[in-house]
Amino acid sequence: MNIVVFGATGSTGRLVVDQALLAGHDVTAVVRRPDQVAPRPRLVVRAGDVLDAASLRESCSGADAVVSCIGPRSQFGGQLGAGLRPGTVMSVGTAHMVAAAEAAGVRRFVFQSGIGLSDGAELSRVDRWVLRALWRPLFAAAIRDKAEGERVLRASALEWVIVRPAPLRDAPAAGRYLAGPRARVALLGSISFADCAACLLRALGEPAWTREIVNLGRS
Ligand SMILES: NC(=O)c1ccc[n+]([C@@H]2O[C@H](COP(=O)([O-])OP(=O)(O)OC[C@H]3O[C@@H](n4cnc5c(N)ncnc54)[C@H](OP(=O)(O)O)[C@@H]3O)[C@@H](O)[C@H]2O)c1
Repeated sequence: MNIVVFGATGSTGRLVVDQALLAGHDVTAVVRRPDQVAPRPRLVVRAGDVLDAASLRESCSGADAVVSCIGPRSQFGGQLGAGLRPGTVMSVGTAHMVAAAEAAGVRRFVFQSGIGLSDGAELSRVDRWVLRALWRPLFAAAIRDKAEGERVLRASALEWVIVRPAPLRDAPAAGRYLAGPRARVALLGSISFADCAACLLRALGEPAWTREIVNLGRS
C-alpha cells in the first residue's frame, strides 16, 4: 500500500512511519521540517504545512490511504500547553488534508483524534463523570477544534476511520490494547505510542471499522 502520513515527526506519527515501512508499505511523510525525518528506502518526504492548503497540493498523489497524526504544538507547557491553547490545526488542517486526499482519489483516511471527544456514554460511570465535569471543561478549546476536524472528515466521501486513543506514553509496544467502536476503554489508562501506531495501521485494513469511531486504550 502507498500510505501518506501527516504529523510524521510527532510521537505517534514517527512510529506509524517506522511500522509501515517495516510492514513493507511505501510511505510518504508530509512534514513541516523535512530535515527532521531520516531518509530510508521506500520513504518519500514532502514538505507541507496542513494550515497552508497550497503546500499540500501534491501531498497525496498516488496514495491509497492517509494516516493523520497531526496535533497542536505549543512552545510553552508541552502537551498541556497545546491542550489549553490548541489553535486551529485540527479543524483547518483537517479540512486541507481531506481536500488533498479527495483531489488525489485516496480511498481510506485514518484520523488520530482523542478519547476526550467521546460524550462518555460508553465509558464507566466514574469515567463519564471525570470526562464531563473535569476533562471536557478544561480542554474545551482543544475538543472544539478536534470536533470540527472530525466533522469535516465524516462529511467527506472518504472511507474514514476516526481513532480516539486514551492517554499515550513512551513505552515499548505491548501488542495488547482494547479497540473498537464504542469500546469501554479506561479514560485515564494509558497505552504506548507504539501500540497506538499499530492500531492506526490496523485501521487501514479493518472493514468493520469503516466510517466508525474507534475507541482505543486499556480495559
Ligand atoms: N499524546 C497523547 O497522550 C495523546 C492521547 C490521545 C490523543 N492524542 C492526539 O493524537 C494526535 C497525535 O498525538 P501525538 O502526541 O503523537 O502528537 P505530537 O507528538 O504533538 O505531534 C504532532 C504532530 O503534528 C504536526 N503538526 C502540528 N502542526 C502542524 C502543521 N501546521 N502542519 C503540519 N504538521 C503539523 C507536528 O509537526 P512538527 O514536528 O513540525 O511540530 C507533529 O508531527 C494529536 O491530535 C493528539 O491530540 C494524543
